[in-house]
Amino acid sequence: MKISIFGAGPVGLITSLCFAEAGHQVVCVDVDQSKIDRLKNAEAPFYEPGLPELLKRQIEMERITFTVDAQVAITHADLIFLAVNTPTINSHCDLGSIETAIEQIIADQSRARTILIKSTVPPGTHLKYKEKYQRYSVKFISNPEFIREGHAISDVRNPDRIVLGLSQGQDIELIKNIYRPFIKSDEQLILMDPTSAELTKYAANIMLASRISLMNEISRLSERVGADIESVRRGVGSDHRIGSEFLRAGLGYGGSCFPKDTEALVSIAKSYGEEFNLTRAVADVNVTQIQRFAQKIITHAKENKLNTLSLWGVTFKPLSNDLREAPALKVISRLLESGLKLQIFDPVAGSDLAGLFGNNPLVTIYPNQYECLKNSDALVIMTEWDEFARPNFEHMKLLLRTATIFDGRNIYDPIEMRKLQFSYFSIGRPQ
Ligand code: UDX
Repeated sequence: MKISIFGAGPVGLITSLCFAEAGHQVVCVDVDQSKIDRLKNAEAPFYEPGLPELLKRQIEMERITFTVDAQVAITHADLIFLAVNTPTINSHCDLGSIETAIEQIIADQSRARTILIKSTVPPGTHLKYKEKYQRYSVKFISNPEFIREGHAISDVRNPDRIVLGLSQGQDIELIKNIYRPFIKSDEQLILMDPTSAELTKYAANIMLASRISLMNEISRLSERVGADIESVRRGVGSDHRIGSEFLRAGLGYGGSCFPKDTEALVSIAKSYGEEFNLTRAVADVNVTQIQRFAQKIITHAKENKLNTLSLWGVTFKPLSNDLREAPALKVISRLLESGLKLQIFDPVAGSDLAGLFGNNPLVTIYPNQYECLKNSDALVIMTEWDEFARPNFEHMKLLLRTATIFDGRNIYDPIEMRKLQFSYFSIGRPQ
């Protein structure tokens, strides 16, 4: 089938490529000329495991075309997905890119089209557009996306669920056919009204973010009373009503979704006269968690006269080069404010970090995780990349001026660290 997708970000690009892989003929359009140029040359515009190979193969198979020309995408298909970004600006979800795309689509009335909205939009958006564009031959379907960066390809190929928000009487056989390669059972396809579909996306993200904030809050008490948050996590997560995912205490959540969606949901609820205190608290706990970690490091540095720190990992999570809302960036700015010198290593975001901090005399970006430890007083870990999990501790002790590690993601065992004679500070665990 012929499909067009607006947006070549993580959602739009990975969905485009997976649809192409499934045999559909796809046109992916984006306003960013340099991104489209890179894609045409089979160059991945962001880090995502498996993306370079998938991209190269689909281009070779001639199943995907990249363009900045929206008309090419509109002419190509009757079924058009919108996966453009909807940033939160002044606590409001900015629908500018979505609306531009819709206006471009309805300008061509040569035949009827169905627009599937994948981007996160406030509940009620679908119905608003349905009414606004009722005199045009266009139908809307809400199809929120739940993919995670770093696992995006497998999340598209093997979704937990595909949510479709439909107006009454809409025929979805066509949509089912498109998704058929990814659907293993009928239960994966969840049909509902469009406003519920839109709210489902926010609810899912806030639910996950709240689990993290709750565990982060408990981790603070855990430190005070001498408990171990990792034991608490296993004990709590083994209850099948709770489940074990998204209970890891640490430096808090970041990325392009949780921070923006919690903020947007509070503001959406407020516009309907509802105070979302719990959602606001989820966001507040996240802010405090990050500040608390930074303060712990600053206090220790002052007390022990440390002036240079090494940092491993800055992206908001492993397997991604995404620095948006990365907790590590907030820690970095606190550490810099207190005058500490920073030597930073990140497995994939080195060049972006050089761009961000290149002019700051207090910051040096290193291409190697051990080089980054030379002439430094202590190590701070902020993203749990696998390559940090089993490092050469003896070598690290020789490189660092004091054998001290602040671990924002609890990747090491405190008992082992004590045996190795490291001063080891983690989250929610006994010293
Ligand atoms: C998230 C949702 O998972 C996805 O369904 C939605 O479509 C977009 O937002 P993503 O932002 O890619 O995906 O990252 P995710 O893997 O969910 O992690 C979000 C943040 O939570 C990261 O900063 C991660 O470090 C943090 N996290 C996650 C924790 O702090 N503890 C956990 O137990 C899990």
